[in-house]
Amino acid sequence: MITGGSGNLGKALKRVFPEALSPTRREMDIRNQTMVDHYVATRRPSVIIHAAALTGVRPCEEDKENAWQTNVVGTENLVNAILLTCAPVKLVYVSTACIFAGDRGNYAEHDLPYPKNYYAFTKYIGETVARTTPISLVVRTNFVGRDPWPYPCAFSDRWGTYLFADEVALGIREVLEAALIGTVHIVGSERLSVLDLARMTKADVEPLSMAEYVGPPLTRDMSLDTVRWKRYSIGSGRGHAPPPTVEPASIGDGESRLEAPTQA
Ligand SMILES: NC(=O)c1ccc[n+]([C@@H]2O[C@H](COP(=O)([O-])OP(=O)(O)OC[C@H]3O[C@@H](n4cnc5c(N)ncnc54)[C@H](OP(=O)(O)O)[C@@H]3O)[C@@H](O)[C@H]2O)c1
Repeated sequence: MITGGSGNLGKALKRVFPEALSPTRREMDIRNQTMVDHYVATRRPSVIIHAAALTGVRPCEEDKENAWQTNVVGTENLVNAILLTCAPVKLVYVSTACIFAGDRGNYAEHDLPYPKNYYAFTKYIGETVARTTPISLVVRTNFVGRDPWPYPCAFSDRWGTYLFADEVALGIREVLEAALIGTVHIVGSERLSVLDLARMTKADVEPLSMAEYVGPPLTRDMSLDTVRWKRYSIGSGRGHAPPPTVEPASIGDGESRLEAPTQA
């Protein structure tokens, strides 16, 4: 079962796991314990990939109640529903590089979290909640969709080990096949600036400096290391490219969208 199936990663996950259940928010609002209990009890999934979240840094900062209800209580509701089934359901919690301070980068699975904004804070608390399930895996990552970068500029001094969402979805399938539990980073092999990343999908993106940004605190260096898993090569294709999408163009990357200079 996949939560957040209409999101950027969720859509990619649905292509990688075409047989998976994927309740819409109308069918299962994760903030609603009764709905979550009912859906999980009646459908009896063996694995839940929890990708639903309030993902924008600014929306989380501006509506902390909704951020908490969605990212923390929503995860608690899934954990409670799993416990009610008394079945060995595995919970895969999709988390973010933003739970780290972002000052030095290259964070491995064992490094100290230090969330710098409310989004990152709720995602980190969500991790700790997910870990209370008997079988859990926290996947930290950083990704964008393959649609052309939707803004005229991008930060040249903000970095990450980005992947495309479909590559993260394939990585999640691989860590599931390997039966990993605990925490794992699914990361790209290259440390890229957001500008490098933007230019992979749109050539004429102009550089912008973090010094010009006004808004909630952002992690400057979101690059991740992994001591538990392999690294992936962004854009390598690997024969896993998804079929062309006919959905409206949307970068879908809440974390980056929020940080776009036009919205700062
Ligand atoms: N994007 C990144 O760079 C990035 C990096 C690292 C980790 N992550 C994590 O990866 C996951 C997916 O991110 P994304 O960028 O693909 O997200 P996204 O495109 O913003 O989509 C969010 C998804 O969550 C669903 N959702 C939100 N509130 C819900 C609720 N109350 N009940 C049910 N569903 C709800 C949305 O459904 P609706 O369509 O109904 O709104 C949507 O399907 C998130 O957990 C995010 O924190 C993202």
